[in-house]
Amino acid sequence: MNVLIIGSGGREYAIGRIFKADPACQKLYFAPGNGATADLGTNLAISDHEALADFAQAEGIDLTVVGPEDPLTGGIVDRFRDRGLNIFGPTAAAAQLEGSKAFMKNFLARHQIPTAPYIETESIEAAERFIDTLSAPIVVKADGLCAGKGVIIARDHAEAKATARDMLSGNLFGQAGNRVVVEAFLDGFELSVFALCDGEDFVVLPACQDHKRLLDGDEGPNTGGMGAYGPTPLATPELMEKIQTRIIAPTVAGMKKDGHPFEGVLFCGIMVVDNEPYTLEFNVRFGDPECEALMPLLQTPATELFYKAATGDLKGIELRFKPLCAVGVVAASAHYPYKSTPPAAITVEAGAQSEQAHIAYAGVKREGEKLMATGGRVLVCVGLGENVRTARDAAYRLMDRVHFEGKQHRRDIAWQVTGEQDG
Ligand SMILES: Nc1ncnc2c1ncn2[C@@H]1O[C@H](COP(=O)(O)OP(=O)(O)O)[C@@H](O)[C@H]1O
Ligand SMILES: [Mg+2]
Repeated sequence: MNVLIIGSGGREYAIGRIFKADPACQKLYFAPGNGATADLGTNLAISDHEALADFAQAEGIDLTVVGPEDPLTGGIVDRFRDRGLNIFGPTAAAAQLEGSKAFMKNFLARHQIPTAPYIETESIEAAERFIDTLSAPIVVKADGLCAGKGVIIARDHAEAKATARDMLSGNLFGQAGNRVVVEAFLDGFELSVFALCDGEDFVVLPACQDHKRLLDGDEGPNTGGMGAYGPTPLATPELMEKIQTRIIAPTVAGMKKDGHPFEGVLFCGIMVVDNEPYTLEFNVRFGDPECEALMPLLQTPATELFYKAATGDLKGIELRFKPLCAVGVVAASAHYPYKSTPPAAITVEAGAQSEQAHIAYAGVKREGEKLMATGGRVLVCVGLGENVRTARDAAYRLMDRVHFEGKQHRRDIAWQVTGEQDG
């Protein structure tokens, strides 16, 4: 099977890595890939969707897997499908589950899927009236994609109203804030649950928790994600059963009924309150670095799982996982997430990587023999172990043997389980 992976981050590296390990995968391409995916397969300097479809057709690509949301909301899946090419990901219409919070909330309400009480509106007056019915804190969300910055948890009614006004007048997020969602604050713990869907059937991966803040103790600014681990023991079998029957199954059925069957990765952001799961949001692709933690746990061959998911054939698949836990710790460049950082050479001590710990590369480029950190999130040290603590220790042992100028990382990934906030 010849496989093309769209994207350039650690997520795409992690997906590529399991295809590379699968003997059924013959040729592996990345578009555009990064300096390290070039060691797993061939990088392509193509970004135009039609040109990618031309390549897939000409080179006999059997399966394309899309990592990031931009090509999905941009309709890459529609282009490929029009040409009879197998691609794993949602159509632009189905990708609205992530692209519009108003669409998502209305979808959840229509299908009676648990979520926080809300209003979605373009009217400042309507937003203010609804805010008056809630007790603080109050959550105000811009409708459109805001790179993880469009959600404000307001401490009181005045702040909530001011935020809604700023969003709706276009001051805060431009177009993306022309419509807002105001919703009740849910006080609980968060889980990330991923389902691979084929439009009708789905399989669920082990639940993760991620760490969005830059600094230990969940302090500092929000980032794309500084670490993740899974499976988390907080997601009991009983809770996973509720998430599956009350959230994932009705979402997949509802999307089909609404004429937008959901194919691809359904990422459910869940808040658990008193052991009951509520949907915070959906994303339509893998989280990063959750993907880097989850992929090495898969025992089912990548070609089988992703090909079946892309061709409507998931029914009856038996998904197998290694009986292990994974912890992924992100190493970012010096000035992340504030500004760019000059390139720096990466060195990995000999023998540092093993069965228990490996690197998923993200912000890197090749310069001759050297692999250079190019800024942002540079790489993820992924540790595996029989429990979260041993996996965490393996990830940090590797992290101590990976060097580049200005490297920064959190020391308390998986604190929810290990109980050590400052590792
Ligand atoms: N109703 C809510 N109650 C409590 N916290 C919330 C609520 N909605 C969002 N949050 C918090 O804000 C974060 C971001 O919200 P989310 O809907 O996931 O938007 P995005 O990821 O697009 O920024 C969540 O991960 C959660 O921590
Ligand atoms: Mg989110």
